[in-house]
Amino acid sequence: MILLLAAEGEEAAALLRRLEGRAQVPGPFPAHRGRFAGREAAVVQTQVGKAAAAAATAWALTAFRARAAFFAGVAGALAPELAQGDLLVALDAVQWDVDLTPFGRAPGELATGERFVPADPRLSALLEEAAGARVGRVASGDRFVADERLARWIRETFKADAVEMEGAAALWTARRFRVPMALLRVVSDQATAGSDVDFALFLAEGSERMAAALERAVARLK
Ligand code: ADE
Repeated sequence: MILLLAAEGEEAAALLRRLEGRAQVPGPFPAHRGRFAGREAAVVQTQVGKAAAAAATAWALTAFRARAAFFAGVAGALAPELAQGDLLVALDAVQWDVDLTPFGRAPGELATGERFVPADPRLSALLEEAAGARVGRVASGDRFVADERLARWIRETFKADAVEMEGAAALWTARRFRVPMALLRVVSDQATAGSDVDFALFLAEGSERMAAALERAVARLK
């Protein structure tokens, strides 16, 4: 069983269009099971933000007994070489808005000492090859970044290539459950003023691009 997670309705809808023989699954988050790229799979819409992503990931990993999981969706670019439509597969992800610095922790460092949560290398390599995605670092926070100064601070502090609102929480949860997970993002905006408009205009196309890339990767999964 392959688990496919996405936060937004449009992102999940692009995955659902590729889920053959789909049937709704009752539960705390919108979920369907069926076949994706010839594999038994479930698509779960986590909804937006780190708390929702962690809760939905925990529920879905348990409910579907997944042996591999992918979290996917759009993201704001921080790296100057990333343009709208580019695919990025996460090497690792950090919660950029976690701040225990008064206790001597680095920005983004949890009380456990965890900071950059690694994605599964095998699934990530598969995405890199099958989807032609670049590899980089994702920064996740409960804030839509539409501000050049904040974007620059996140880039400089964490050496992150893109921002979004779920990936680090989903990867962290999957590690707790010992289920391999990869994180795929397609660039929708540049995380500066006007990014809300770029995001809204590109969400449907970006979701299609992301779902098509995932389909190619899952088809090659051994
Ligand atoms: N997802 C897509 N673009 C984003 C941005 N600029 N900030 C946070 N999450 C995003």
